[in-house]
Amino acid sequence: MASEAADARSGLTTNNLEAFWMPFTANRQFKQTPRLLVGAEGMYYRSADGREILDGTAGLWCVNAGHGRKHIADAIAAQVMELDYAPAFQMGHPKAFELAARLVTYMPAGIDHVFFTNSGSESVETGLKMALAYHKVKGDGGRFRLIGRERGYHGVNFGGISVGGIVTNRKHFGTLLTGVDHIRHTHDPARNAFSRGQPEHGAEFADDLDKVITLHDPSTIAAVIVEPVAGSTGVLVPPKGYLEKLRATCDKHGILLIFDEVITGFGRLGAPFAVDYFGVTPDIVLTAKGVTNGVVPMGAVFVKKEIYETFMNGPEHMIEFFHGYTYSGNPVSSAAGLATLDIYEEEGLLNRGAELADYWADALHSLKGLPHVIDIRNCGLVGAIELEPIAGQPTKRAFTAFLQAFEKGLLIRTTGDIIALSPPLIITKGQIDKLFDTLKDILQSLD
Ligand SMILES: Cc1ncc(COP(=O)(O)O)c(C=O)c1O
Repeated sequence: MASEAADARSGLTTNNLEAFWMPFTANRQFKQTPRLLVGAEGMYYRSADGREILDGTAGLWCVNAGHGRKHIADAIAAQVMELDYAPAFQMGHPKAFELAARLVTYMPAGIDHVFFTNSGSESVETGLKMALAYHKVKGDGGRFRLIGRERGYHGVNFGGISVGGIVTNRKHFGTLLTGVDHIRHTHDPARNAFSRGQPEHGAEFADDLDKVITLHDPSTIAAVIVEPVAGSTGVLVPPKGYLEKLRATCDKHGILLIFDEVITGFGRLGAPFAVDYFGVTPDIVLTAKGVTNGVVPMGAVFVKKEIYETFMNGPEHMIEFFHGYTYSGNPVSSAAGLATLDIYEEEGLLNRGAELADYWADALHSLKGLPHVIDIRNCGLVGAIELEPIAGQPTKRAFTAFLQAFEKGLLIRTTGDIIALSPPLIITKGQIDKLFDTLKDILQSLD
C-alpha cells in the first residue's frame, strides 16, 4: 500500500498506482515512493513534483534525438488523419515501402530488405524464425540449432530468452526452446578493467564458438546471435578482433550471424549502426527503439538479399514466409520512422556520438578511484560504471545510486550493480559535465 506521502508526491491515489503491474520494476518499492515522469523536452524529463531530470539513458536507450520532437509529432498526427491503419497482410500502404527503402541505405551493400515488427523482442523472434526457415527453404533443414551467448539480452519472448543469457530472465519459464546452446560472455575484468573502448584482451573468447559448434556438429547450426555491444547486462564491449572471429567461424560453416542492434542501432556508438562501427557485416540485423526515436513502437529486421531471395520461390500466389504482426509497418509507426530519419539526417545525429566520444570517455573515466568503483567501460555514447556489490545484498548499492540520482535530477539505469548510461545523441558537453558531476557526488558518499 502506498503511503499518503506517496500519494501526495505522485498527485494520484493509491488505487491508481496499484492496478498497473509494472514491467521489470520493483512494484512494491515503486508504489511506496513513486517516480512519475509527466513531461519531457530535449534532454530533460519533468517529474510529477515539477523537477527537471536530465535524461542519462535516452529513456530506455531509444530517444536518440531527444524528447518532444515536433517534426515526429506532426508526422504522426497527419498520418492518423490521412490513413490511420491499413491491413498489414496482403495489403500495403506507401510509407512502409518508403521507410524500408530509406532504411536499407544505411546498411552495408547486400543487406537490402527489411521486415517490420513492433519491438526489439519481436525483431529477435522474427530474426530467429527467418534463420531457421531460411535453411529449411534452402533444403538444409538439418540446421535447427541456435547459439546465443551468456549474459546476452534479446528481449523477453521465448526465443529471445532461450538464446539470451541472463539467468533471472530465464529461470522461471520452463524448458524454453530446445536446440539452443551458448558461448561464453566476454567480460574479463582481471585483464580488461577500466578499458577505454574495445578491450585489448579476449578475442579468443570467440574460439568458444568453434568448441560449441564442434560439439553439436556444424551442419546442425542455423545461426549465432549476439549483441555487438551487450547492453542490458551492463555494457560489455567486444574485445578487439572478437566479432571478426565470430564472422569467420560462421562463414566457414555456413552459419548465419545475427547482430542484435536494438541498442547499438541508430547512432548509439557514433556510427549509424554497429556494423559500421566494428566493420563486421552479419547476415541479419535486428533493430527497434531508435527507429522511431522511441515515440511509437516499431522494430525493423534487416536481411541480406540472398536470404530474402531464397524465400521468393514456389507459386507466386503463395505466402513465402508465414510470419508477421497486425502492426508490422503500420502507417503511424512508418510515418514516425520517416520523420525520425529526417531529424537524424538533418542534424547529423547518427554520427554525432563520434564527435563526443572522447569527451564522454574522459568524463566517464574520471570516476575511476571513487569508492566502490571496480570497472568503467565505454563505447560511443554508452558508458558503464561497475560497483562492488554490498556483501549479501547484490544490486542494492547500484539501486541506491539510481534512487539518489533521481532525487538529484538525473536519470540513470542500473542492472545488477552496474550503472549504465546512454544519453540522447543531442547531449551537450555542458550536460555531460552535469551528468558526471552529479554521479561523482553520489558515488563519493554512497554506502
Ligand atoms: C539487445 C536488445 N534486444 C532486444 C531488446 C528487446 O526490446 P523490446 O524491449 O523493445 O522488446 C532489447 C531491449 O532493451 C535489447 O537491448
